[in-house]
Amino acid sequence: MIKIAPSILSADFSKLGEEVRAIDAVGADYIHADVMDGHFVPNITIGAPVVKSLKKVTKLPLDVHLMITDPQKYWKDFQKAGADIIVFHAETVKNAKELIKEIKASGIKAGISIKPKTPVSEIEALLPVLDLVLVMTVEPGFGGQDFMKDMLPKISDLRKIIDDNKYNCIIEVDGGINGDTAKLCVKAGANALVSGNYIFSAADIKKAINSLRQ
Ligand code: DX5
Ligand code: ZN
Repeated sequence: MIKIAPSILSADFSKLGEEVRAIDAVGADYIHADVMDGHFVPNITIGAPVVKSLKKVTKLPLDVHLMITDPQKYWKDFQKAGADIIVFHAETVKNAKELIKEIKASGIKAGISIKPKTPVSEIEALLPVLDLVLVMTVEPGFGGQDFMKDMLPKISDLRKIIDDNKYNCIIEVDGGINGDTAKLCVKAGANALVSGNYIFSAADIKKAINSLRQ
């Protein structure tokens, strides 16, 4: 079963609670929260207080994507706020294995994300201990960008490594996911899809989510 993780970056922040309840009600699997610091990426979004508020309106797992320069310094704030999965960027830390260990020891799941220019080889050695790998299919920073098709081989390479070694690691894809690109990603081996603009701009969000799942 493909997991769908709507990105609240494309939601109307003036009614964030209602928007999250609505996607929860139509069968989303996770809530994807994009945290940006204006340093690792050229945009600033939300911090731990917003994650804490999200926790009050939904029981869905909160998938927190840290696009920040110093995840070591801040991840705990998000864990305390109620994150269920913390995803940090491979490009930001020297000792990723240690950080994964710390996150998992706190009782939640740990994931790592790779930007389009970062190869799978950078994180391959971490796969045995990771719960999730997030493949970026746009340059991180903004919602509503076009899907980068040349990222598909990364997904299929990961799928092969994970299956061959029987690792217990989800492959999540993020950026430009719609009904068409979702199919390509699932075919390549993804089992979780983040989608912002496509879901939140849809007239019928239930239909949008279901079309991603097919
Ligand atoms: C981009 C974020 C994404 C983004 C996805 O840096 O990590 O999660 O919100 O939005 P869409 O689906 O609109 O590309
Ligand atoms: Zn994201």
